[in-house]
Amino acid sequence: MGHRLAVLLAAVSLPLAASAAPAQAAPSTVPLGNVIPAPVEVHPGGAPFRLTPRTVIEAPPAARTVADRLGEALKPATGFRLPTVGRASSRTPVIALSLGPGVKGYRLTSTRDRITIRAATAEGLFDGVQTLRQLLPAAIDARTPQKVDWAVAGGTIADYPKYAYRGAMLDEARHFHTPDEVKQYIDEIARFKVNYLHLHLADDQGWRIQIDSWPKLTQVSGGAGTGVDGVGGGFLTKADYRDLVRYAAARYVTIVPEIDMPGHVNAAQVAYPELTCDGVAPPPRTDTEVGYSSLCTSKEVTYRFAEDVIREVAALTGGPYIHIGGDEAHATAPADYLAFEQRVLPLVAKYGKIAYGWHQIAQAPAASKAVAQFWGTDDTDADLVAAVKTGTRVVMSPANQAYLDMKYTEDTPLGQDWAALIEVHDAYGWDPATRVAGVPASAVIGVEAPLWSETLRSLADIEYMAFPRLPAIAELGWSATYSWDSFRARLGSYGPRWDRQGVNFYRSPQIDWS
Ligand code: ACM
Repeated sequence: MGHRLAVLLAAVSLPLAASAAPAQAAPSTVPLGNVIPAPVEVHPGGAPFRLTPRTVIEAPPAARTVADRLGEALKPATGFRLPTVGRASSRTPVIALSLGPGVKGYRLTSTRDRITIRAATAEGLFDGVQTLRQLLPAAIDARTPQKVDWAVAGGTIADYPKYAYRGAMLDEARHFHTPDEVKQYIDEIARFKVNYLHLHLADDQGWRIQIDSWPKLTQVSGGAGTGVDGVGGGFLTKADYRDLVRYAAARYVTIVPEIDMPGHVNAAQVAYPELTCDGVAPPPRTDTEVGYSSLCTSKEVTYRFAEDVIREVAALTGGPYIHIGGDEAHATAPADYLAFEQRVLPLVAKYGKIAYGWHQIAQAPAASKAVAQFWGTDDTDADLVAAVKTGTRVVMSPANQAYLDMKYTEDTPLGQDWAALIEVHDAYGWDPATRVAGVPASAVIGVEAPLWSETLRSLADIEYMAFPRLPAIAELGWSATYSWDSFRARLGSYGPRWDRQGVNFYRSPQIDWS
C-alpha cells in the first residue's frame, strides 16, 4: 500500500472506528511484559494469539497436570472447553506445553495460532502458565463467562528465578486457619511464583498439628478457644496435613512445617507439664506476650519430645526443610539455648531433612548445616555473619520490610507496628543480596514474607495484609532487576484481577489502581 493511500485510509477510518465503538474497538492486549514478578527478558512482536472455543491445550504426559490446571483456570471466564490433548491436529489453535532440555526456567512464545511454553521441568511449565494467565485480559479471573476478546500479545518471554527459595509464612498458631483457607492462600501466592509456604504450627497459645506420640498436644491445646483472645482454635490432623502437602505440591509449592522451640512452647507445657522444669502446668494463654516460655533444657524428656515431634513432622514433609524456630527464647539462659540447639539441630538431619530456624540459631555451631531466617531490622548481625562463613545459608525476611503483619500506615485497622509501618514502597525497597552487611549474595537462598496472625482471623484479613505486599517480596525473590516505577505500574494494573478473584487487598495510595 502506498504511503499516500495509507494516510488517506487512516484518516477516513478514524471517525468510523469511533462511531463503531465499543463493539468494533481495536483489541487491546496486555503489554507482553506486564507481569509480576517481572520476567527476565521480554521481546514483544508479531500478531496476537487468540483463545477461542476451538483452542486446545497440548501437553506430554509428564505435563498433564499442569495442562489440566491451566484449563481449569481459563474455563470459568471463557466458557470454552479447552481440553488437554497429547497432540493437537494442525491448524487447531493451541497452547502447547513442551518439556525438553536446554531451557533455563521457561520460554513463552506467542504467535497468531499458537502459544508455546517450553521448560526443562514441569515446575518451569507451571511458572510459564502463571505468566500466561497474567497476559490474558483481567476478565480471565472472573468466575462466570465473559464476552471478551481473549487476545495475548505476540512475542517471546525468557524467564527464570533469581533465588531458589521464594516463600510466604502463615501463622496457624495465634489464630487457626482452616485447610480450605490455607488452600486458597496457596492458590493466591502461587500466581506470583512463590514456591514455599512455611506454616507456623505451634506457639504459646495453641498447638496445630497432630502428633501421635504426644496426643495431648492437640487434645488439650488445639481445641476451641485456643486462639488469641480466646477466639477460634483447631488443628490439622495428619490426614489434613498430607492433603495440604499434596495440594501445594500440585501447584509447585513446598510446605515447610515449623515447630518453635525452645521458646514459644506454653501450649505444649499446658498439655505436658513435664516439659517445664518444676513439672507444674502453666495456665493456658491467649494474650500476645512473647518470650516467657521455655522448654526445660536440663531434662531428658525435653529431647525425647523434640525428637518425637521432629520425626513425626519429617515423615509428613515432602520438602527438604523442617523449621524448628529458635526465636525470642528470652526465658532460656544463653548457655542452655546453645546446648539445646547443639542437640536439636542435628535431629533434623537424623530424619533426613535440613534444619531451618530463625536467625538466632546462628549462635550454635551446629547451624553450619542449617538455613537461618533473618528477621531482624538492623543492617547486620554478628552471629549470622560468622555463621555464613561456616556454611549457614540464609533466607531474608527483615521484619521492617518483609513482615506482612506490620501495618501499612498508622490507620491500618489490622496488624502490628513493633518493627515498622510498611507501605508498598518499603516492602519493595530493599535488596536480599545486600540487606545484611557481611552476608553475601552467595549465602542467600531466597526471601520469605511472614504473616503472623495475632490480629488476623479470616481469610479476608490475611488477604488484606498480604496483598499487595506479597507480590513485592515475590518480585525481589524472582526478578533479575528491580524497578519501583515498573513494579508500581504493573501492580496498578493487577488490581482488577484481584477484584475479579474476590481477593481483599489494600488500595495503597502509592499505586495508581487502574
Ligand atoms: C519472630 O518474629 N519472632 C520470628
